[in-house]
Amino acid sequence: MKKKEKENTRVKQLIDKLEKDRALSKAEWTEVFGSWDESDRSYAAEKARGISRAVFGNKIYIRGIVEFSNVCRNDCLYCGIRRSNTNAQRYRLTDDEILECCDEGYGMDFRTFVLQSGEDYAAYPPERMAGLVRRIKQAHPDCAVTLSLGELERDALALLREAGADRYLLRHETANEEHYRRLHPAEMSFSHRMECLRTLKELGYQTGAGIMVGSPYQTEECLADDMVFLGSFEPHMIGIGPFLPHKDTPFRDFPKGSCELTLFILSLCRIMLPSVLLPATTALGTIRPDGREQGVLAGANVIMPNLSPAAVRKKYMLYDGKICTEDSSDECRFCIQGRMKRIGYEIEISRGDHI
Ligand code: 5AD
Ligand code: FES
Repeated sequence: MKKKEKENTRVKQLIDKLEKDRALSKAEWTEVFGSWDESDRSYAAEKARGISRAVFGNKIYIRGIVEFSNVCRNDCLYCGIRRSNTNAQRYRLTDDEILECCDEGYGMDFRTFVLQSGEDYAAYPPERMAGLVRRIKQAHPDCAVTLSLGELERDALALLREAGADRYLLRHETANEEHYRRLHPAEMSFSHRMECLRTLKELGYQTGAGIMVGSPYQTEECLADDMVFLGSFEPHMIGIGPFLPHKDTPFRDFPKGSCELTLFILSLCRIMLPSVLLPATTALGTIRPDGREQGVLAGANVIMPNLSPAAVRKKYMLYDGKICTEDSSDECRFCIQGRMKRIGYEIEISRGDHI
């Protein structure tokens, strides 16, 4: 075989190995990220799509996301709602408003509600959130509640779990400690975030980790660390989207992440963890108009349309250009249905728990 051809088959061999062993070493992952090309990406996408089809059929799970507060005590350098961004117009929804979003969502066939906010424990302490979770579960006993509130201590997470919360999303952002320090202010700790993820699993949450692809200072080695971490932690869900700069953050001048690399990594996650719940994220739909469709075709099986009230949507700006800020909840719901139908998929109306 000629040298070029040999190089052309190496990543595909590693993808085959991943499929067989459900794992690669850090050195192998580094090789994958250092030398993949478009033909490797379509090779992985085809395999990943086949696995999704075998596990989930042509069904796509939907989750309604309620962004209930954009107040945040943290100052992550990439994020548009970081506390130092004085240009952000802050808002907080009342418990009744949040419940109304869920009621509206229920009428549109959502059976999972994701409550997401900045780290706003001053206004929404665990006791208040527990009460809210109880109210939602009481009103909609057939629904799952997913929380995405940031890092909390064990007792708070336990209280929320007892109140009925089923799932928790906390992206690890990067599994490389040095990289973590470059994305976050000094007062935030990599080990605390990782500990929080372990606690979530111990408490019986279906737990979601995840990363931004192409975040500043991310290297092939960082991505290798992420894949090794994801393979060993085995989250139930993995949230992956491209990094997109926000104009009022220190990372405003960094380039956006690559859509192709994001899709490739989605496929690799699907091949490594066949039954993982893998959303085609809003950031993916932002970087490219058909990004979410491409995500599904690369192995994603979840979409999370926005259920937030129209009045606050533009204020939950984690990055510039976020889609769906001009749309209403039912517009997003039916937009997604059409988009999925056009590529041969159907919306599944059930909780869609991890199997
Ligand atoms: N670009 C892309 N994703 C971002 N997030 C935060 N800021 C950005 C950005 N600028 C992601 C983080 C966080 C999730 C809620 O949104 O990964 O965990
Ligand atoms: Fe919101 Fe399409 S999903 S407009």
